[in-house]
Amino acid sequence: MMRIDFLTILPDLLESPFNFSMLKRAQKKGIVEIHIHDIRDYSTDKQRSVDDYAFGGGAGMVMIIQPIESLILKLKQEREYDEIIYMSPDATVWNQQEANRLSMVENIIILCGHYKGVDQRLRDHYITKEISIGDYVLTGGELAAAIVIDSVVRLIPGVLSDETSALTDSHQDGLLSPPVYTRPSDYKGWKVPEVLLSGNNKLINEWRENKSLEITKKIRPDLIDED
Ligand code: ADE
Repeated sequence: MMRIDFLTILPDLLESPFNFSMLKRAQKKGIVEIHIHDIRDYSTDKQRSVDDYAFGGGAGMVMIIQPIESLILKLKQEREYDEIIYMSPDATVWNQQEANRLSMVENIIILCGHYKGVDQRLRDHYITKEISIGDYVLTGGELAAAIVIDSVVRLIPGVLSDETSALTDSHQDGLLSPPVYTRPSDYKGWKVPEVLLSGNNKLINEWRENKSLEITKKIRPDLIDED
């Protein structure tokens, strides 16, 4: 059983992504438990503030330590966490290898950043892992966190109905996936590659591997040059 605690100032934004398809099924089956916490509920001041001006000036607000720390401390009192993750564009970029690794842990806290980000001292003292989903800036970390957790949960055994299908995903072997086809084998004269209809598994696998390599070289040469 994996438990995920989201820390956010926009809880409504995170409700929906986990209420459909396999993510919903995973929760129903008791494979994962998702909890969404509103950081504002833990603010001790009357206005329920979650942000303040940056020391040193400059545009943009900074998320304050107090409500986030109170929430983290409360959760840590209840159980141990394997990772306390901070979603931020200022981090290393998420990939399939990282998703595989994170799918094997038990308890995760994910803090969704907003504005100019959180006070650095929170990062220094509580955050064990920082994740960006790409080199572009979102309004907040919520959608990024949903993407990360979607990619993780589907890798947990028992979540995908066809357990082997995660193994043949794009990126799982470091390459893009080969093209796929279904019936009819001839649609208005658009034909499915003959080899796929041959029934010869050895030839079919060879064809798929070659296509994967060809497509990856063309569209994402960086994936091949890297190693
Ligand atoms: N918050 C804002 N932009 C982000 C990004 N690219 N990745 C993760 N969190 C973010």
